[in-house]
Amino acid sequence: MRFVFPLNRSLLSSSSSSTNGTTSISSIAPFISFHFSPFLSISLFPSLSLLMAPPPPPAPSQQHPHEETTNLSHKSKVTIVGSGNWGSVAAKLVASNTFNLDSFHDEVRMWVFEETLPSGEKLTDVINRTNENVKYLPGVKLGKNVIADPDLDNAVKDANMLVFVTPHQFMDAICKRLVGNIQGDVEAISLIKGMEVKREGPSMISSLISEKLGINCSVLMGANIANEIAVENFSEATIGYRENKEIAEKWVQLFSTPYFIVTPVQDVEGVELCGTLKNVVALAAGFVDGLEMGNNTKAAIMRIGLREMRAFSKLLFSSVKDSTFFESCGVADLITTCLGGRNRKVADAFAKSGGKRSFDELEAEMLQGQKLQGVLTAKDVYEVLSHRGWLELFPLFATVHEICIGHLPPSAIVEYSDRKCKETLVEGSAEF
Ligand SMILES: NC(=O)c1ccc[n+]([C@@H]2O[C@H](COP(=O)([O-])OP(=O)(O)OC[C@H]3O[C@@H](n4cnc5c(N)ncnc54)[C@H](O)[C@@H]3O)[C@@H](O)[C@H]2O)c1
Repeated sequence: MRFVFPLNRSLLSSSSSSTNGTTSISSIAPFISFHFSPFLSISLFPSLSLLMAPPPPPAPSQQHPHEETTNLSHKSKVTIVGSGNWGSVAAKLVASNTFNLDSFHDEVRMWVFEETLPSGEKLTDVINRTNENVKYLPGVKLGKNVIADPDLDNAVKDANMLVFVTPHQFMDAICKRLVGNIQGDVEAISLIKGMEVKREGPSMISSLISEKLGINCSVLMGANIANEIAVENFSEATIGYRENKEIAEKWVQLFSTPYFIVTPVQDVEGVELCGTLKNVVALAAGFVDGLEMGNNTKAAIMRIGLREMRAFSKLLFSSVKDSTFFESCGVADLITTCLGGRNRKVADAFAKSGGKRSFDELEAEMLQGQKLQGVLTAKDVYEVLSHRGWLELFPLFATVHEICIGHLPPSAIVEYSDRKCKETLVEGSAEF
């Protein structure tokens, strides 16, 4: 099928921010340009809606068997689905609030993908005995009201607030297992960074949860390196909600602490895409670090990356708001991930090896069971770009994937000059 749509010059036009136009990096500036002024309103691509993945329909309201678990104004019961590094910190944050607030049951169940530790003990048993996730968050007490549970069905059975926080590649299987087991009026929130790419197009993890389980799903993203929040250093996060502000406020109540400030915005896709796409930019930042190119280059890569994040998000979902990119989930998460995240760290090692060592090998060696998201996301993004004919509009995203799969050397991260600008896309209408 072919679609014809007009492209708006203010989003995809010649660059205004690159003044000298002489470096190889600035040569990509003409491809996608936008202004970060909150005062400028940029009209978006109305006819692009034909190409966009529609936001998931509102969750069908389900018949609830028990009065107590159906209304968020009654005591809510929370389960965390996931128990990695961030999952454990999320459990700690949530448990401190459920313990203190009357509107929540004290106990927080945390589903654990069971594993046997080198000592021969089950991880779940050790968490319940020591109140610590010794593998993914050693040295941090989770709160006595956190109960680790290796049985997924049991962990979710009485909960009416579900927090999903696993690496995104496992979510399809988790949702399949949960279908039919979620009872009553349940609300979900996803802390997961990543997307699924299907033949019909990309699907955000919150949409996967909504569609598979028939429940509304908000998202929480932000500049949140888990280990720093675990030791209660001040940070911020953004909740993206769809329509119901009351639900957003309930999530804010559940996650907020004096050291973790949570702001709700009505932009699920914008918040989630920020959290997802910044991992691709973090790989680029890691390549720059590995090649010892310095701070100016890294800042340039981050700026170009942010510009591509915004353009890509808006091409996929016209509802995405510019202001979302100024929230914690946007520029702040991009900065922290490019300075300190695991994707940056492994990409740095990959570049130092001259691209000779595989990401799988480096992940296994450097992350002790934690998962890299950026490499998979770069592949997913690349599939969307090539399927839709957008590769030349997103040279940074495309190059990151090509480096990851060994088609380009790490140094290609700053060599955009041979990537030709697709004039039709930049100047006027484009055909797909
Ligand atoms: N760690 C952070 O600093 C951080 C911060 C913000 C967001 N996130 C996001 O949170 C999500 C979860 O990351 P994390 O840091 O909690 O996890 P992690 O990478 O630390 O740990 C991996 C988790 O996956 C589990 N697992 C392994 N195989 C599995 C399988 N087959 N099925 C289900 N689970 C399996 C492991 O038991 C472990 O709990 C990711 O989307 C990540 O991008 C992480």
